[in-house]
Amino acid sequence: MRILVVGGGGREHAIIKKLKENEAVDTVFALPGNGGIAGDAICVAIGATDIAGITAFAVQNDIDYAVVAPDDPLVLGAVDALSAAGIPCFGPDSKAAIIEGSKIFAKDLMKKYGIPTAAYETFDSADAALAYLENAPMPAVIKADGLALGKGVIIAETRGEAFDAVRIVMRDKKFGKSGERIVIEEFLTGPEVSVLAFTDGKTVVPMASSMDHKRALDGDKGLNTGGMGTIAPNPFYTEDVADRCMREIFLPTVRAMTAEGRPFKGCLYFGLMLTENGPKVIEYNCRFGDPETQVVLPLLESDLLTVMKATTDGTLAETEVKFKKGAAACVVMASAGYPGAYEKGKPIQIPRDIADDIIVAGAALKDGHLVTSGGRVLGVTHVAPTLAEALDGAYEKVRRVSFDGAFYRRDIGARALNKKA
Ligand code: AMP
Ligand code: GLY
Repeated sequence: MRILVVGGGGREHAIIKKLKENEAVDTVFALPGNGGIAGDAICVAIGATDIAGITAFAVQNDIDYAVVAPDDPLVLGAVDALSAAGIPCFGPDSKAAIIEGSKIFAKDLMKKYGIPTAAYETFDSADAALAYLENAPMPAVIKADGLALGKGVIIAETRGEAFDAVRIVMRDKKFGKSGERIVIEEFLTGPEVSVLAFTDGKTVVPMASSMDHKRALDGDKGLNTGGMGTIAPNPFYTEDVADRCMREIFLPTVRAMTAEGRPFKGCLYFGLMLTENGPKVIEYNCRFGDPETQVVLPLLESDLLTVMKATTDGTLAETEVKFKKGAAACVVMASAGYPGAYEKGKPIQIPRDIADDIIVAGAALKDGHLVTSGGRVLGVTHVAPTLAEALDGAYEKVRRVSFDGAFYRRDIGARALNKKA
């Protein structure tokens, strides 16, 4: 089988490694892929948002199945275009991807269908937002409506910070068109859980739960990043919580999307906060999370391609989706300076015996050698019977990987381990 994967980060590398466990998969193309993915797939220099280029490539190269992994091409309609060209694919069409593409859509959906989330107001003018903030409770959370590379969320501790946030997003247009409308919502507290779920628009099958570590520095200090590490399963996500989420959040969301004429097929990501008043939705993503995928897929026992196809064909209810017992950890190694400015082109040394456990996020090939090309450079994963062993194993490998200026958090999984103790 000839498979195409759209995207070029750690998430895509993890997906490709898992897809290749199926012996029927003989060729995988990554568009555009990266220097590390090049060891597992044929990388083709077509950008992930070049929908016409992707579709033409798929048709010309007899692709049997396509996986669209990142948010932008999904929101832009990559699945619509590929499907129209007769290529079966994994991921929601643009009508369904709006659940991530517009935070206002997502909030209004939750309100209409009674799905628990933070209380909120929406605004399309800076004056109205500023007037509302005069009396709003602090902290407040200000979110740009559209996609903003995961950076469109500002948590304002004080009224002054909240005013600044509105000015930056709506007047200075820091996130461009994404910030023309905003959501201002109630600040929630509690442990965060990421739950990725397969769905075919009728059935929803949650994967192993996980926990991201978004801040750059130890102790959850520093700026927000794309994610500095993950663990799975998340010990805060007990069976009782899982049952409640299925009843109050997962099934109602999938049913709501279908009722709205936007059936969602693919991977629906629930960003949840376990508050004193029960689990609430912080965000929906229309795709696998990054770096959550790097810990969730290694725990998947069933064949990924079979499950993905079942979401496309609407046969998820009849398909076995099994996860292994045990735990997984992923520690991200980043370039010095990230998430601010950083240097590129630093040679990366990876011992051969652990190469299979390295998921490459931001690296290129230069004269046949892997060099850094992104902020988040790679993720080091380890699967073991317990979380403590998974973390020990991941950190042991991290110490054997090197590049100039590499930095990583030393406390990935610490909060989860304390909970267990
Ligand atoms: P998002 O990009 O929507 O995942 O938001 C980034 C991070 O901001 C989340 O992972 C949360 O830690 C935090 N966040 C978002 N919304 C809220 C909220 N209503 N209350 C507290 N924290 C939030
Ligand atoms: N790790 C968070 C995300 O993928 O959006």
